[in-house]
Amino acid sequence: MDSGALLFKRPAVRVGHERQETTTARGIVLAMEAMNCRAAGISSRDLAGGIDLLRELDASSEGMRWLSMNIVGREDSEPLFAPFITQRVGETTIAILGLTNDKISLHSNDYTIKPWQDALADVVKKAEKQSDMVILLSSYPDAINEQIARKAAGLDLIFSSGHRPVNQIPKVINNTLLAKTSDRGKYLGVLRINWTGTGIWGQDFMIRVRAEQNRLDRVNWQMGRMEKRIDPDKLKEEKRYQKLLISKEEITAQIHSLKEEKTNKLTNEPSSFNNQFIALKSSVPQNKQVQKIVDQTTQTVNELNRKKVRSSPKKQSALNSMAGWKKCAECHQDQTAFWQNTSHAKAFKTLEKVNQQFNEECLVCHVTLPWYEPKRVRAEKLLHQLPEKLNNVGCESCHGPSMAHSNDPENTLPAQPTEATCTGCHNSEHDDNLVFSEKVERIRCPDSDI
Ligand code: HEC
Ligand code: HEC
Ligand code: HEC
Ligand code: HEC
Repeated sequence: MDSGALLFKRPAVRVGHERQETTTARGIVLAMEAMNCRAAGISSRDLAGGIDLLRELDASSEGMRWLSMNIVGREDSEPLFAPFITQRVGETTIAILGLTNDKISLHSNDYTIKPWQDALADVVKKAEKQSDMVILLSSYPDAINEQIARKAAGLDLIFSSGHRPVNQIPKVINNTLLAKTSDRGKYLGVLRINWTGTGIWGQDFMIRVRAEQNRLDRVNWQMGRMEKRIDPDKLKEEKRYQKLLISKEEITAQIHSLKEEKTNKLTNEPSSFNNQFIALKSSVPQNKQVQKIVDQTTQTVNELNRKKVRSSPKKQSALNSMAGWKKCAECHQDQTAFWQNTSHAKAFKTLEKVNQQFNEECLVCHVTLPWYEPKRVRAEKLLHQLPEKLNNVGCESCHGPSMAHSNDPENTLPAQPTEATCTGCHNSEHDDNLVFSEKVERIRCPDSDI
């Protein structure tokens, strides 16, 4: 299952990118289905393509349901998505519930989101009747999820999405386990649960017993000190001692009832868990079926962008500060000959080979740009205006824009690259093993004689 914030990078689709972003969203759903995802919560980043798109995806999916108990019609108050589903896993029936943050905008007057206080209790009651374990997928921020855990009875787990900080170590609040994994597929959260059907989390139960035992130890110690100092006959009249005696009885009863609760409710032990975050780095092997879906989706996006590039007019831009490698070659033959033998010179061809040469997400690092800030590059639409001579990781990717130097070499010198020049592209997501001192030797241009 996934707690949501799956389909879009932002709460609203960028103008002019609607087809590209919804194509990607459809691809993500197919990939999630191939990975056997049965249920997803709904957050603002799943609704960016409009509620109708999400309803269509929900209706056309075979195995995966989008869940929300509180997105409802404004008129009839009827939920638009299933509030919950049940899944049989071995001997256990699990109910998975969806709850959407009511502070997000639906961009529509026909629907509205009820606050959790108005929706949760009834749905949990229904779900509890049909299941052994109740899991809530929530798109509320942490503070509200904690409030929900404190106030709502019957929830065993809350998985949340779309809010920082990410990769949260699970914690137990009021016998509800809260957990969260990083967003946008950077990590996989694995929770191994030993479910004993008691509705009590081991850690929580143990903490309660231990806390009571600590209190008892303190009381015993205080009583012991008084017993040493005061005559046994007078001791009974001491108010403080009597108070301690009462505390002792209360605590002992409390521990007894906790243990009783344990033996009555538990066939053997409280449920326990352990968790793990798996970083999905480029070195993690790909699943073939999922890879195929990802490839097909990115191909479609590439075709959409190919058409867009053809129809968009060219403008003057920051690219004018760039001379392109052919200009440099006029005066720097040795360095050019060397560079042509590195894969930087073929970086754009590499994208052509995998049919991704129009994909903006890829282009930023496989071409020559005046700077490597994806936001700024997109804002100035630089990727759609690149002349052929910049379709590679060229001289100016490392030495900076050098049109001025090319025109007046004696008076303006280009930059010499540092490690920071490389890490703009060789970041951890695309290059797991950048050791600068080693890699720079493989691409360092030879000395010149001019
Ligand atoms: C008209 C000839 C000419 C062109 C065109 C030219 N350069 Fe140069 N370049 C020179 C000369 C001459 C020097 C040596 C200047 C000096 O050391 O005073 C030089 C020096 C350099 C240096 C060394 C800087 C240093 O700090 O030692 C780099 C790097 C460089 N050029 C890169 C480029 C790049 C990249 C381009 C293309 C965008 C380019 N050059 C285009 C003539 C040229
Ligand atoms: C504009 C982005 C970009 C910058 C800046 C960049 N690289 Fe690269 N680098 C790439 C890409 C993309 C490839 C893979 C090209 C391919 O295989 O098509 C690559 C490949 C390499 C390779 C393999 C080369 C080979 O021929 O085997 C080395 C080594 C390397 N880069 C080192 C560096 C170093 C060191 C720096 C900084 C001085 C640097 N790169 C700066 C994007 C960049
Ligand atoms: C943040 C920069 C960056 C982005 C974005 C990027 N790449 Fe690369 N790519 C690199 C670097 C750096 C290398 C070289 C890695 C190395 O030397 O180990 C590389 C290498 C490659 C290679 C050749 C090596 C290999 O793994 O087979 C291919 C193919 C490739 N990239 C495709 C893509 C595609 C397709 C996209 C878009 C989905 C993309 N890249 C987006 C930086 C990037
Ligand atoms: C991947 C990064 C990278 C690319 C791409 C690159 N260079 Fe370099 N270049 C370097 C590094 C690193 C040095 C060595 C700098 C130093 O010694 O501090 C260097 C040095 C130079 C020098 C100075 C040599 C000297 O005499 O000291 C020149 C000139 C030069 N490069 C020109 C070019 C030209 C022309 C191109 C394109 C055809 C190019 N470079 C592409 C990284 C790059």
